[in-house]
Amino acid sequence: MAKKTIQDVEVKGLKVLARVDYNVPLNEDGSISDETRIVASLPTVKYLLDNGAKVILCSHLGRPKGERKMEFSLAPVAKRLAELLNVKVTLAPDCIGEEVEKMAAELQAGEILLLENLRFHKEEEKNDPEFAKKLASLAELYVSDAFGTVHRAHASTAGVAEYLPAVAGFLIGKELSVMGEALENPVRPLVAILGGAKVKDKIGVITNLLNKCDTLIIGGGMAYTFYKAKGYEIGDSLLDEANLGLAKELMETAKAKGVNMVLPVDNVIATDFAADAEYKQVPADQFIPGWQGMDIGDKTREMFAEIVKSAGTVIWNGPMGVFEFPNFEKGTEAIAEACAESNAITIVGGGDSASAITKLGYADKITHISTGGGASLEFLEGKTLPGVAALNDK
Ligand code: 3PG
Repeated sequence: MAKKTIQDVEVKGLKVLARVDYNVPLNEDGSISDETRIVASLPTVKYLLDNGAKVILCSHLGRPKGERKMEFSLAPVAKRLAELLNVKVTLAPDCIGEEVEKMAAELQAGEILLLENLRFHKEEEKNDPEFAKKLASLAELYVSDAFGTVHRAHASTAGVAEYLPAVAGFLIGKELSVMGEALENPVRPLVAILGGAKVKDKIGVITNLLNKCDTLIIGGGMAYTFYKAKGYEIGDSLLDEANLGLAKELMETAKAKGVNMVLPVDNVIATDFAADAEYKQVPADQFIPGWQGMDIGDKTREMFAEIVKSAGTVIWNGPMGVFEFPNFEKGTEAIAEACAESNAITIVGGGDSASAITKLGYADKITHISTGGGASLEFLEGKTLPGVAALNDK
């Protein structure tokens, strides 16, 4: 890792401001429905506690857009963190201001102060220098471990590094090394599986992966745009019309680079976009007018699973169908199962694919489940991540 990490600096006795990503999904009653991101932060938090640091944690939760909306409070996270660590976690009433400054100043080694949601202040997302300075003034060292948010140039992810020595925590280190290795030095064949609705969202990733992978599987809603570019009829399926030409270009690039670009050979199509819609399976070139694609079909599931089985490395991002409707979840589940059963290095990113893996109980059979949705996509695109770029070089 080219950036300094917490192991490269002394933390004993220091007040450490650690940016974590506790943007966790909440149930209607306010309880946490998936604590993966909290658990993923524990190695860094424990290291800081064990090494005598005074730990000040900060995060955003949801998108309160600069308003103090208490349904986005980090209170449930403070409670769960205290249970997981068996340590007292004090939730500050805000993330800046006199009271918070006093709490930070009085913090003792081995204690945790969790600041309230950073996005209660609009200055956070604007990367306002004054706000970043106030955050920085609470501590003597900044640790970035919020991999899920490193693609954002916000005050707490980038700005604050202007005012404090800035190093990476263990989660950032792990995410970057596993995904970096898969892209730069993969066990081949390297197979990328991309799903999701819009071609637009994945253009950058596809373009970058065409330089790296041996096989690129396209599934999910965006496959229909590729079909259309090939001249197939797609009925009422999702179409990213603006990117039709680009889909064609990407297929030509794949051919020129010798990358095996694979599209579904059959699909589950339905009369409506609804959980209880009438549905049937048809070959890729036999869509029925008025019907729409909802999932990959049986033959495709088998074909994709075979490819995953013989891969050296698999990178999967995005669902294969409308997996929130039980009738159309089989494609996504088949990929999850194939990844779990494969001997390949398997890397899963993106909220939907990761939750399919977790829901099916395959999490411990996957080499790496990224805690980043947008962040992991931007990494796969080869983009500079502002939250990493801001850290001190080794
Ligand atoms: C995420 O969940 O992807 C991160 O926490 C970033 O959240 P954001 O998309 O609201 O910036």
